[in-house]
Amino acid sequence: MHVSLRQLRVFEAVARHLSYTRAAEELHLSQPAVSMQVRQLENAVGLALFERLGKRIELTEAGRELFHYSRAVNRSLQEMEEVLESLKGVNRGRLHLAAASTVNYFAPRLLAVFQRRYPGIALHLDITNRESLVQMLEGNAVDLVLMGRPPERVEVESEPFMENPLVVIAPPEHPLAGVADIPLARLAEEPFVMREPGSGTRQAMERIFAEQGLAIRHGMQMTRNEAVKQAVRSGLGLSVVSLHTIELELETRRLVVLDVEGFPHRRHWFLVYRQGKRLSPAARAFRDFVIAEASGIAAPVALGR
Ligand code: PGA
Repeated sequence: MHVSLRQLRVFEAVARHLSYTRAAEELHLSQPAVSMQVRQLENAVGLALFERLGKRIELTEAGRELFHYSRAVNRSLQEMEEVLESLKGVNRGRLHLAAASTVNYFAPRLLAVFQRRYPGIALHLDITNRESLVQMLEGNAVDLVLMGRPPERVEVESEPFMENPLVVIAPPEHPLAGVADIPLARLAEEPFVMREPGSGTRQAMERIFAEQGLAIRHGMQMTRNEAVKQAVRSGLGLSVVSLHTIELELETRRLVVLDVEGFPHRRHWFLVYRQGKRLSPAARAFRDFVIAEASGIAAPVALGR
């Protein structure tokens, strides 16, 4: 039986996501390339590994068996790479980072300082929402993650490294702009522009309202912070965003922060990695750097209303 490591790696990703598209995204391959690897593996094995049920795919019995072994092979390969990397020393090797979309507002500043210090480390940064980050941690597909709250469903090590205040934003001409001490209940009357359900910001916002027994009036839904800000500016509703995302809009007064009871809501950014993961010297250097220096480089602006 001629089975290649590459086929096993691709198969493992498809089996974990039960999706060719998501596996292709994770592996930075095209979807046809992923399907082809799986087909070649099926030919080599002589058995079907997936079956199609309407739009979904499921593992066949042979697929489930192979999934067990391909996971073990992948884990060993990763460990082998990590051990070999660690023998090379700190200013070498690759570092695969992933960050919440909201982190994108300051991550480049951190990476710039880090890269100047360690020019020999090849950095790769994936920006995506909270839900996808949790999946990357589950699949051990990344070295370190910068996110809003450690996940509950994966066993991880996590350390807070910087404040992440959430604020309520409005266009400057909104009747509540400039009003002091707005009760949260008053906001329940306003429509809110929402991030997508996989967003950590959205989950925090829903928790804040739910804790007070209040419901949010959902307005439009947008997948990006930039789109949310534009929608709020255009008068489509209020929203809750991380203060990190609106530095420019506050400077140019295109958006204002409302003075709402319980806000700014205190949150933190966390550096997260899988429990038991062996960090390479490069990953350890990045971890130490973020914990010690991130707030000095990228702390959110002070709020002078
Ligand atoms: P997100 O940010 O809304 O871009 O997922 C992460 C978070 O604040 O938890």
